[in-house]
Amino acid sequence: IPATDLLTPLKIRDVTLRNRIVMSPMCQYSSQDGLADDWHLVHLGSRAAGGVSLVFVEATAVTAEGRISPGDMGIWGDQHIEPLARIARFVASQGAVPAIQLAHAGRKASCQQPWLGGAPIKTAAEGGWPVIAPSAIPFHEGDPAPLALDRQGIDATIEAFAAATQRALTAGFQVIELHAAHGYLLHEFLSPLSNQRTDEYGGSLENRLRLTLQVAERMRKIIPQGLPLFVRISATDWVDGGWDIEQSVVLSRELKELGVDLIDVSSGALVPTAKIPVGRGYQVPFARQIKEQTGILTGAVGMITEPQYANEIITGGSADLVFIGRELLRDPYWALKAQHELGGEPAWPIPYGYAVKRRAK
Ligand code: FNR
Repeated sequence: IPATDLLTPLKIRDVTLRNRIVMSPMCQYSSQDGLADDWHLVHLGSRAAGGVSLVFVEATAVTAEGRISPGDMGIWGDQHIEPLARIARFVASQGAVPAIQLAHAGRKASCQQPWLGGAPIKTAAEGGWPVIAPSAIPFHEGDPAPLALDRQGIDATIEAFAAATQRALTAGFQVIELHAAHGYLLHEFLSPLSNQRTDEYGGSLENRLRLTLQVAERMRKIIPQGLPLFVRISATDWVDGGWDIEQSVVLSRELKELGVDLIDVSSGALVPTAKIPVGRGYQVPFARQIKEQTGILTGAVGMITEPQYANEIITGGSADLVFIGRELLRDPYWALKAQHELGGEPAWPIPYGYAVKRRAK
């Protein structure tokens, strides 16, 4: 049997990925009223033509209040379906699998686009909106406190994820990822630093896991048996007394029980003060640990830029998929470059292939 490497297909449920290279979800902050437009089609479509196996639409807000910025992608209404379906169709036409990440920003909502400074938009007059969280603790000390969700608000949040899942399926996405990382709403419930509730959604680890598990369970029941569900987590807050890899292993095991197929293992972003040892593949050991200790498929992400290194992550058994973020912004054809560097002929788009193939002279 040939060894599994970066270019080996992977079948998850009924979905076959042509290789292990995934375009990581990346907010463009370029939507009007949450709608996908030509920018998103070209942005995502070019990576599909560029050989990636799984193309993720950015964090897509399940409610209008769940947006980080006024420019975030959304899926809170039926009007969002068709522009997303256009993207899903094009991605699939290029041999890639269309995927979408569903998100709620929690206490990190209602902020400016990062290139405008990213500061909280504090009032409705300035275009802001009410911000919700597990507890009334702001992300930055001194910022306005978010509203602590009541039980009704929690139930409505679960329903919003359910309705968004249904719309994502209608739009034609074949992989759905639940965003439970980076200090957004679900991560805020997981971490004791942001969750100081005294009801059944706070306190013990079991209670802090509850909302993420309930949302994932609800989504899994809506998603057809043949289609995968991924969950992105922050494996650690990088803060003593915060969320950590041991708790992430427990969460991953329970998500696996519910029928989640893959944990996409990121880290951090719950608090602005964390000291993070950023470097090549710095989150890969977490993907490896979760894979080894729970047996679930994992995705590795973060500072993976070289094809040879990405290949080693797969051949060494640290993860099953490699998510590429910024390097795919720098080079939409990174996957074709990886295919070339690993010794094969790139899977060129048909209109390019016959013309650019390197022929034996
Ligand atoms: C991101 N990231 C991100 N993560 C996520 O889960 N959902 C998202 O919508 C976004 N948005 C986003 C926008 C931009 C512009 C960047 C650069 C990053 C994080 C991203 O998916 C990835 O995890 C990190 O960028 C680390 O991987 P790289 O960039 O080092 O390959």
